[in-house]
Amino acid sequence: MTTSAALDWLKSNEKPSIDRWVDWLKIPSISTDPAYRDQCRAAGEWCRAQLESLGFDAKLVEAGDIGPDGKGSGHPVVLATIEPAAGYKGPHVLFYGHYDVQPVDPIDLWESPPFEPVIRDAKAGETGGKRVVARGAVDDKGQVMTFLEACRAWKEATGHATGGARYTVMIEGEEESGSVSLPKFVKDHAKQLGECDVCLISDTGMLGRTQPAITYGVRGLAYTEITLHSANQDLHSGLWGGRCPNPITELARTLSLLHDKKRRVTIPGFYKDVVPLTKKERDNWKKLKFNAAAALKKIGLPKQADIGEAGFTAMEREWGRPTAEINGIWGGYTGKGAKTVIPAHASAKVSFRLVAKQDPRKITKMFFAWCKKHTPPGCRWELSDHHGGFGVTTPIDSPPMQAASRALKTASGKAPALIKSGGSIPVAGMLKDVLGLDTIFMGFGLDDDRVHSPNEKFEIDCFQMGCRAHAAFLGELTSTK
Ligand code: BES
Ligand code: MN
Ligand code: MN
Repeated sequence: MTTSAALDWLKSNEKPSIDRWVDWLKIPSISTDPAYRDQCRAAGEWCRAQLESLGFDAKLVEAGDIGPDGKGSGHPVVLATIEPAAGYKGPHVLFYGHYDVQPVDPIDLWESPPFEPVIRDAKAGETGGKRVVARGAVDDKGQVMTFLEACRAWKEATGHATGGARYTVMIEGEEESGSVSLPKFVKDHAKQLGECDVCLISDTGMLGRTQPAITYGVRGLAYTEITLHSANQDLHSGLWGGRCPNPITELARTLSLLHDKKRRVTIPGFYKDVVPLTKKERDNWKKLKFNAAAALKKIGLPKQADIGEAGFTAMEREWGRPTAEINGIWGGYTGKGAKTVIPAHASAKVSFRLVAKQDPRKITKMFFAWCKKHTPPGCRWELSDHHGGFGVTTPIDSPPMQAASRALKTASGKAPALIKSGGSIPVAGMLKDVLGLDTIFMGFGLDDDRVHSPNEKFEIDCFQMGCRAHAAFLGELTSTK
């Protein structure tokens, strides 16, 4: 009953592990697009069957409103449990992941079809090693797979998929579309999920190829869509231009007021619940020696592009400060050629990354009030709320956190760095809010994995480090080295 037996199994079974992962990647589980509804269920079912084959009691639970056919309006949640070994005294771990993926567009920029995974070496001009290229490679199927393969290793080595540790597994299918059915799911299953002591998620990144990390916090999110209506019809811009509001111009003018000269968000009260960064945290982050200019270079930008809220470094802005972003803006004529028109309306998607105690509902309300206050003369807003979630910060000295840290050391030979991330994972806020659960983010991605972009990849070395880390974590929980 040892971690080393599980690690040996992983080493001699690399190929079948990758084959299983590739199999899952072939299912196009794009949660935001209704056309892929059946494939989302199929990806959930694939995962359920894997867990069952590992000895878990695994089911698909309908999510959202249940229709006459018994199916939920949302994508089903995979929920699984396993009988722990008699006398197991360690924590009850809730492993969370998501089987859904982001849309693939722009499809033309993919070098190979997004759902036909390719295993290849780095090309000239690319850094890193052998990788799997496919949508979902790293976010999040590949990372969930690191856990499943660690369980397979323990099962093969010892007969028990978690080595006897108490685990509940929850793999959802709506993370990439805001986990909208999940608050109800968590409340409905509060008794079962509330028995867990800590949540473990592999859906974040490392500091570098050879520098593993534990992420101890993610930001929250409030996502909105706004439309500015002007005339009750599209107008000839020669006859009406200069006589009435052009909603595109007015929308752009309004949105340009979202930030002041110091690039701070101007919405009154926006920073009210933001806890200032402590000197200690800022000092710790400085020691990580993050090179902002090098990171910008990788995305084709010069060092002058290191802009954002005045008074904070790039890392502080990403990890510890809230932002307002325009994610899309449209209106009027965007087809080929020219058309002289003043449209009836113009729209934008506007979202906010949140920190500390900022409440996404309150932020959305404040933003809508701000829009109303800045309503251009004669115009009218249509304001809608997409989704949101709280950010979280995890205490860094808890026993499970220390166990994760030791597991990463076993898996990589290096003590993990403690980092935060600017991304969002809505479930973490819900678990804290509803059940008081803290989340440990033990992820294995790299910042050049092209998450959400064409040619998403996960490097085999990172994947294997993930498998070893989960295997070692199970050893830590069951104290069987
Ligand atoms: N796995 C990501 C979040 C992430 C990526 C965190 C890298 C840390 C490092 C997750 O799947 C994601 O994309 N979340 C969305 C949130 C959502 C509500 C659409 C995000 O952050 O935009
Ligand atoms: Mn993810
Ligand atoms: Mn994602």
